[in-house]
Amino acid sequence: ERVRLGFVLNGQPQELSIESDTPLLWVLRDVLGMNGTKFGCGMGLCGACTVHLDGVPVRSCSLPINAVANKQVTTIEGLSSNGDHPLQQAWVAENVPQCGYCQSGQIMSAAALLANTPRPSDADIDNAMSGNLCRCGTYGRIRKAIKRAAV
Ligand code: FES
Repeated sequence: ERVRLGFVLNGQPQELSIESDTPLLWVLRDVLGMNGTKFGCGMGLCGACTVHLDGVPVRSCSLPINAVANKQVTTIEGLSSNGDHPLQQAWVAENVPQCGYCQSGQIMSAAALLANTPRPSDADIDNAMSGNLCRCGTYGRIRKAIKRAAV
């Protein structure tokens, strides 16, 4: 069914008239033109589409838009005003990306981790990041970058 709903995207209020079960990822990319969030599997399994919903990491490919009504959504574009979030700086310093496709999802999961656990242990990092897959196998550099940003 078509519904009218509002939510806040990266601090900007949004108003949409849309089918209530449209995945948030579709709305971000196709309706709102925010292409930083990536489509990987479309089934909640890979983490490429990770965004924050009221600060909690969620898989936007599997989240119907009606679940975000009146909530705050943050995407990679909203993580910092000019790409200078400590994690983004650490990602550059550690040269994390290879193909890069999964990395915005990786950073969003890492950002949610550090917001709650400023000095994460290896186990904390493994727990928080285990749902974000990387075909290039950049896991070692991801862990180093998270530690660098946490210091
Ligand atoms: Fe959403 Fe893979 S695209 S989890």
